[in-house]
Amino acid sequence: MRRFLVGMVCAAALGGVAIAAPAAPWLNTKLSPDRRADLLLGRMSLAEQIALLHGHFPVLMKSRPPGIPMSAGYIPAQPKYGIPAIRESDASLGVANAGRGDTDDAAPLPSGLALAATFDPKLAFASGAMIGREARQKGFNVLLAGGANLARDPRNGRNFEYLGEDPLLGGTLDGAAIRGIQSNHMVSTAKHYALNDQETGRGTLSADIGEAAMRESDLLEFEIAIAAGRPGSVMCAYNRINGTYACENPALLNGALKHDWGFPGWVMSDWGAVHSLDAAAAGLDQESGQEADRQVYFDAPLTAAVASGKFPKARVHDMAHRVLRSLFAEGVIDHPLAPGALDTRMDSATAGKVAEQAIVLLKNSPGLLPLAAGARKIVVIGGHADVGVISGGGSSQVIPLGSTKLRSPKGAPSWGGGIIYHPDPPLAAIRRRAGGEVAYADGSDPAAAAALAKGADVVVVFASQWATEAMDIRLGLDDQQDALISAVAAANPHTVVVLETGGPVVMPWLGQVGGVLEAWYPGARGGEAIAKVLFGEVDPSGRLPQTFPTGEDQLPRPQLPGLKSAAPEGPTIGQGEPLQVHYDEGSDVGYRWYAAKGLKPLFPFGYGLSYTAFRYGGLKAVGGQGLSVSFTVTNSGARAGIEMPQLYLASEPHRSQQRLVAFTRVALKPGQTRRVTLNAEPRLLADWDVAGHRWKRAAGRYELFVGRSAADPALKGAAVLTAASLAP
Ligand code: BGC
Repeated sequence: MRRFLVGMVCAAALGGVAIAAPAAPWLNTKLSPDRRADLLLGRMSLAEQIALLHGHFPVLMKSRPPGIPMSAGYIPAQPKYGIPAIRESDASLGVANAGRGDTDDAAPLPSGLALAATFDPKLAFASGAMIGREARQKGFNVLLAGGANLARDPRNGRNFEYLGEDPLLGGTLDGAAIRGIQSNHMVSTAKHYALNDQETGRGTLSADIGEAAMRESDLLEFEIAIAAGRPGSVMCAYNRINGTYACENPALLNGALKHDWGFPGWVMSDWGAVHSLDAAAAGLDQESGQEADRQVYFDAPLTAAVASGKFPKARVHDMAHRVLRSLFAEGVIDHPLAPGALDTRMDSATAGKVAEQAIVLLKNSPGLLPLAAGARKIVVIGGHADVGVISGGGSSQVIPLGSTKLRSPKGAPSWGGGIIYHPDPPLAAIRRRAGGEVAYADGSDPAAAAALAKGADVVVVFASQWATEAMDIRLGLDDQQDALISAVAAANPHTVVVLETGGPVVMPWLGQVGGVLEAWYPGARGGEAIAKVLFGEVDPSGRLPQTFPTGEDQLPRPQLPGLKSAAPEGPTIGQGEPLQVHYDEGSDVGYRWYAAKGLKPLFPFGYGLSYTAFRYGGLKAVGGQGLSVSFTVTNSGARAGIEMPQLYLASEPHRSQQRLVAFTRVALKPGQTRRVTLNAEPRLLADWDVAGHRWKRAAGRYELFVGRSAADPALKGAAVLTAASLAP
């Protein structure tokens, strides 16, 4: 009864017509979200239902009525039913700004790829919860977060927003982040469904791939994320799949998502991704950002199609039902927004925690790191380390107070907003810790930087790479930074390179330097996090969520399809149209490709050093109906540290594809041993059976290994499993 009353009070607080409970039975919180949606839809006219199915893009609205915030999306309220306005914001890495002015700040998280490097679902939940809280305070109730595209090509300019190349790692963390967001009574959106794996030509590109390969790779990441996160909404992508646009693709929307996975929420389009009313029949429920489409399909044309009998009224009911049931299920209707002040400083602590755990130590010559507090002279060079830490551009861009816009690259997309540095300079954080002198050179003159480096105990060179939505990138730093690092390392071999990159880069200078840290885009407290790891206050516990290749010649497609220039300086979304990309590698994405081809990358997936050492032993693999593997991990070094044991399948009875099937994090004190048990994800022990339309596992012997990376089998074993058949 109490919850029922809360529902009534909430509806009244919306400022609409006061609704009495008997007249508004859908406000009864004891009923299921589906029942509530049906009760409400029973009162709504067709026009009122259709009003829920298309939304504005305030950024492109010619005249924006007062009360509509500058943001990604807006759908007007229907106060007489207690339906609030749907207020949408991008929020993959924090609440995005969308041109609301630099004083509308929010706490920026490190990149999604950084989050993936933590291998930590709890942190992913905490990040989502922080974003959701800030979004509520800013007056948003539907977040366009939850990017889950597989890093099929390391040059995809949006990989930094996503969670790496493995479906289990990415899907698990995405699901946890979505749950975190939705713990604030709001809807989160898994996006961009599916195979939007490069930006170049994204509006027309056809990703051509077989059904089994797609199910076992890109779709599997979504399947895992959606099962774990239960997002209220899924956003379909810009591109085509096997010739059909993702937003009008019945196999993906009506088939895999709604039928096979039982997704009860609504499918919204990406902005400008609707091409016809066919999309509604294929499973699209809502046309987002209608100002970005050639015409508004889900308003007058939809109404006319229903009137002429060409489009079933029942499907309109289903579309509106899906929107309303998610709003009820996540508490958007029962818990109206009450915007309030943000504490971005406090929220930045979450960002700092992610950054600390995400940093990957790639190389460390004996005795170089951690830095000794007593070092006489440290020289810091480059990367605008005196200003802050770089962030990625595009719709996910978050603006923190005091951020600095350094320069806009020629032709950069206007929504990229230039290159933004978050105001937590590593130089200041290093100075706060160093006992001796810390000198700085901006690196614009490599000879001067090398001269300064010469007499130092240690040199820290910062190098950065900017990536943004709408543009793909090359697999490296710009030439000037490579030359700078080489010149400095030639002058002083005690050189540590700190990378702030969107993803993997090649390192022509690797043999010359003493240490390398990958710090990704480290967010609000990035400078502090880098300094904490450099000085050993925090053990480097990040592991690579993406393989670092030696060069583009190792990739399935050495040339990025459609890309006109090897080093693009502006948007590439319109290039190469109409484009067909053949994903002939199938589900051999990332480390699976390297294993299948016998290639040795620069650094493998899952790799990362610690300041301590770990030893593995006592493997026990139990098969049968599932796979459970236990083993011991010992911290054999002298410092506390965190290890990330990874369980890989090496081969099944009739196939030898490598797959990550389970992972965990273990914190160990020096000398401490812990027995760890990992249970394999059942879908990863199986193959997609096209004819049977299900996951199928053959009976027989499964080879496996527990490792410190995809290329470092510490313990090998095998187990005999029974045959199994799993519904999708
Ligand atoms: C992006 C989406 C984003 C939307 C709204 C699109 O260009 O692909 O990720 O949510 O814009 O800003």
